[in-house]
Amino acid sequence: MTALATVPAPMSTAPAAAATPLVRVAGLTLGYGAAPPVVEAVDLSVAAGELVSLVGPSGSGKSTILRALVGLHPPRAGTIACTLAGCEIGFLFQEDALLPWRTVRQNVALGLRLAGRSRAAAEAEAEVWLERLGLGGLGERWPRQLSGGQRKRVALAQVMALRPRLLLMDEPFAALDAILRRQITQELLDWVEGEGIAVLLVTHDLEEAIALSDRILLLGRGPRARIRGTYEVPIPRPRDLVAVHAHPAFAPLLQRLWTDLAAEVAGSGLPRAAA
Ligand SMILES: Nc1ncnc2c1ncn2[C@@H]1O[C@H](COP(=O)(O)OP(=O)(O)OP(=O)(O)O)[C@@H](O)[C@H]1O
Ligand SMILES: [Mg+2]
Repeated sequence: MTALATVPAPMSTAPAAAATPLVRVAGLTLGYGAAPPVVEAVDLSVAAGELVSLVGPSGSGKSTILRALVGLHPPRAGTIACTLAGCEIGFLFQEDALLPWRTVRQNVALGLRLAGRSRAAAEAEAEVWLERLGLGGLGERWPRQLSGGQRKRVALAQVMALRPRLLLMDEPFAALDAILRRQITQELLDWVEGEGIAVLLVTHDLEEAIALSDRILLLGRGPRARIRGTYEVPIPRPRDLVAVHAHPAFAPLLQRLWTDLAAEVAGSGLPRAAA
């Protein structure tokens, strides 16, 4: 779901310090039932304003890690420490979670209402975010009256309105056509760069990972998947999603990631990833 949520703080609250990451995962092992662990001994961290992508083969455990971060999956071992309050973390998942019985404007205002704003103030602010995302005039509609791309924009407006400090995303725009996807992703990127919001993005799209991230983590094949590589992306910001492909660091990094991902996928019974 492209769900907006106030996260039920599963994480222990560590004292804030200048160099402390917003979220730090250490030795995380996760699994389902009595099956072998899906991921094992995973370490990762996201600092303030940093954009980090988590890539890896299908079924390796990327979504499971995100679910653990928001308290939906209890760790078998390891720690998840976060310096943020739950309300400072937003998330966008693949499926959206707009409430069908509320109008678009009410959906966007919901988080603000929960944060204590009056109805009038919340709806006025919701309207500002709807305008910003090109949805002005659609506030009175019901979610069922929107196109897929419009729904995604509403979900994004919901998250933006909450002004999170950390945004967790699990392939939020995967179902969109290429043009709309690039457009919405650029809006998201401009906002995140402008506001200094930290992001942890799960994606299967290596080009998207390079275009958006400061750092990419490659999760290996499961079961017992581990982080197999960390890749810094030496491309300055602000970034333009079209121009970024022409940066001299882009193609070599993409080649390296494909090679390393293909090596992980090889032997898993899946077709090898194309180089
Ligand atoms: N509810 C569940 N019960 C049992 N096993 C599960 C459950 N959810 C996921 N799994 C298994 O855990 C492993 C990791 O799943 P997960 O959804 O985290 O992978 P992923 O990396 O996000 O994959 P994809 O890229 O396809 O989204 C897979 O083998 C999957 O079959
Ligand atoms: Mg997934």
